[in-house]
Amino acid sequence: MSAEKGLNLTLKVWRQKNSKDKGGIETYQVSNISPDSSFLEMIDILNEQLIGEGKEPVAFDHDCREGICGSCSMYINGQAHGPGRAITTCQLHMREFKDGETIYIEPWRAGAFPVIKDLMVDRSAFDRIMASGGFVSVNTSGNTQDANAIPIEKVNADMAFDAATCIGCGACVASCKNASAMLFVSAKVSQFSLLPQGQTEAKQRAINMVNQMDEEGFGNCTNTGACAVECPKEISLENIARMNREYLSASVAKE
Ligand code: SF4
Ligand code: FES
Repeated sequence: MSAEKGLNLTLKVWRQKNSKDKGGIETYQVSNISPDSSFLEMIDILNEQLIGEGKEPVAFDHDCREGICGSCSMYINGQAHGPGRAITTCQLHMREFKDGETIYIEPWRAGAFPVIKDLMVDRSAFDRIMASGGFVSVNTSGNTQDANAIPIEKVNADMAFDAATCIGCGACVASCKNASAMLFVSAKVSQFSLLPQGQTEAKQRAINMVNQMDEEGFGNCTNTGACAVECPKEISLENIARMNREYLSASVAKE
């Protein structure tokens, strides 16, 4: 525990019973919050307080609490994952806030991510996009070639790895004025298209994933780039250009 003084904060938290409920902002006070606590620990403290008062705790998604699972999605003062670059909410610390500050906490706002309760949204649209093409076929005949035996250019391996760091958090969608999922989908397409192992389904992958993305109700990309700025894994916009090329060449091949 730091010797620094604890923070007294006013929290304006979105409360919504279920997807049908209109929902609204509720105001809470928390006091003596250690600047060393994470943002999620601060919400844990709020919830203990609410439970002690016989009130319903705030529902929010979390799992790994170390920037891996992508579940701790929320807007903090209108910013996806709050202030700071290249971090998720669970990696955000209270030292980023000032004593006496008012903090607004809300769920992702996107038609394709309906609110389940309070700060929790349904991101299963991403799972359905993955199921439509985010996989590779593997020969399981017993003669399977060891993946490490296939030479891959370092530059491609690095780009594929960078794309694969996408954690499916949805901050790109939440930050986009069109609620577009292009950064997410393009990271997943690129992760496979850059590697020889991903070539088996290459012709169909981009088409299937883009079609599913449209079906889920995500908006169009208008190249504003907010997605890449707010992405906690710094996924590059170059992936979108790559996906567009993949989509185009697959469409031409189909004709
Ligand atoms: S591209 Fe970035 S912001 Fe979008 S889901 Fe992946 S990690 Fe999250
Ligand atoms: S809880 Fe897993 S990324 Fe934040």
